[in-house]
Amino acid sequence: MSSIRSHIIASGSYLPERILTNKELEQMVDTTDEWIYQRSGIKQRHIASENETTVSMAVEAARKAIRNAGVSPQDIDGVIVATTTPDNTFPSVAVSVQAALDIPVGIAFDVQAVCTGFVYALSVADNFIKGGQLKRVLVIGAEKMSSVVDWEDRATCVLFADGAGAVLLEAREDSDGGILSTHLYADGRMKELLYTNGGVSTTGQSGKIVMQGREVFKNAVTLMADAVTAALEKNNMQPEQIDWLVPHQANSRIIEATARKLNLPMEQVVLTVDHHGNTSAASIPLAFDEAMQAGKIKPNQYVLFEALGGGLTWGSALVKI
Ligand code: UT7
Repeated sequence: MSSIRSHIIASGSYLPERILTNKELEQMVDTTDEWIYQRSGIKQRHIASENETTVSMAVEAARKAIRNAGVSPQDIDGVIVATTTPDNTFPSVAVSVQAALDIPVGIAFDVQAVCTGFVYALSVADNFIKGGQLKRVLVIGAEKMSSVVDWEDRATCVLFADGAGAVLLEAREDSDGGILSTHLYADGRMKELLYTNGGVSTTGQSGKIVMQGREVFKNAVTLMADAVTAALEKNNMQPEQIDWLVPHQANSRIIEATARKLNLPMEQVVLTVDHHGNTSAASIPLAFDEAMQAGKIKPNQYVLFEALGGGLTWGSALVKI
């Protein structure tokens, strides 16, 4: 019996040119560079200009992934975009990417699981591929979080940022690599911990981010560790077999806590929160692409993705590159 696996054959990313430093934020709200860095590990972040949108960033990231893969857009049959900040309520960001890159008729839609969006989208794409329905799928995380940040709320505006990352998945038969397993979770009873105070069917606008940071923090440490344990158990693997942890980049203290639970030295953790901030669904593919382009992540290595976000949603994915 032949088995199909989804391989990550390339990645790409895009960051807006404009960098917003902690020092600049000191001029905007009652905060300090020291507070932001100590509590979150963030030093600076990229913020989109008025002309840069989730679609435009997603297109650039996807274009690079396609180029790095050396394939033609004609050979892609699926586009799945994880985003919470689409250009329009509809159509999806995914169809705009499809049109911009001349990707032929296929499947294209968005996935909304906030900061866990990329792991959800990866899982959805993997299931389409394993089911034999798709052969090459672009999975993109793209966000313009600056558009849903309350720039007067010092508790959140210092954290979130903009950008996009993309991976190209390809179906391969009889392979022992690729996506080994994905693990998705949600518990809507915790939806009040992190949300926007509006939406199209209520206020007619997207609303702004409201977060109970401390509560989210506590849940993040335990739930992401659970998701990581699930991935290891499913694949009969020990933590020391993991080559790289590529976590959602919300807070370096959360990331360090997860690494400690895995007994993984920080040298094997891809950390970008210091210069990317929290880009929600874009954070994992942005971090992954940075490590790929730097030549850190190599073929046949085991990479573990993990994330937690509003919902609460959380999850993990174990991949052999
Ligand atoms: O990506 C989705 C998932 N999101 C996360 O994983 C985020 C999880 N949460 C966190 O990362 C952290 O909770 C934060 C970085 C958001 C906050 O760190 P904390 O250590 O939990 O601080 P806190 O919220 O308990 O606030 C401590 C103090 C408060 O003052 P009092 O009540 O102790 O007087 C806040 O008002 O810090 C104050 N504070 C600030 N002070 C200076 C809150 N924001 C700021 C600020 N600058 N920007």
